Amino acid sequence: MQSPIRVADETFVIPMPFEIPGFGILYINSMVIRGQEPILVETSAPIVRDDYLQAAFSLVDPKDVRWIFLSHDDRDHSGNIMQVLEACPNARLVTNFVGLGRMTEEFDLPPPRMYFVNDGESFSVGDRTLAAIRPPYYDSPATRGLWDATTGVYYAADAFGAVVPGECEYVRDVDADVYTTGFNWFNRANSPWHEITDPTKVNAVVDRIRRLEPQVIVSAHGPSAVDSSDKLCAMLAEIATMDPLVLPNQAEFEQMLSAMEAAEPPVAPPV
Ligand SMILES: [Fe+2]
Ligand SMILES: [Fe+2]
Repeated sequence: MQSPIRVADETFVIPMPFEIPGFGILYINSMVIRGQEPILVETSAPIVRDDYLQAAFSLVDPKDVRWIFLSHDDRDHSGNIMQVLEACPNARLVTNFVGLGRMTEEFDLPPPRMYFVNDGESFSVGDRTLAAIRPPYYDSPATRGLWDATTGVYYAADAFGAVVPGECEYVRDVDADVYTTGFNWFNRANSPWHEITDPTKVNAVVDRIRRLEPQVIVSAHGPSAVDSSDKLCAMLAEIATMDPLVLPNQAEFEQMLSAMEAAEPPVAPPV
């Protein structure tokens, strides 16, 4: 398991790397901001529950947590919400109407602890005000990112992700061409509707992020980018001009399975 990464003052990314055979590593990242009123950004995925809870609560005492921000309802973001709500009795869950509705399909969420913040709205967490700003690309209608003007960190939810060849922390750790290929792959895979978008309109939405001039862009699904938001925004705007991604078909999937089996050491039979 990778250790939490301090990306700005009192701001930590909790990285969970997952291997996609034949493609590389895809991260499921969450974040912790240890301000006057500590906030957990996302709750990670059920499959890494123990590791996530251990990492998050190594950074902040669960009883001190006052806010849990969920960018959207997907299980890689909300998957441990019930365990976190139970561990953090003083925390409210920041979501929105659509996010609550979609999570209600699985979770028995306590309505009095819900706190709705829509795209463009802000909320105060003691020593700072955080703004919910929807990223240009996303895969749930509930999605909002999170902008912390005190540190210049923009948490972009699923946007700005990238499949990478190996474990890393920052975009600068990855060869630029390899990163661009992984970035173009992931952002098209996660938002296949890119092919029906108007590049001019997408660019106007990307401008919302550009104007923030983030010092750090944290993606839920890739390494963090420091002092390179102009470049990454240009790359994201380009996604609107690209052809659709061609994903593996059944025959290619079977080839992937065979390669995985060949790579795994034989399991000793039970005695
Ligand atoms: Fe998602
Ligand atoms: Fe996600």
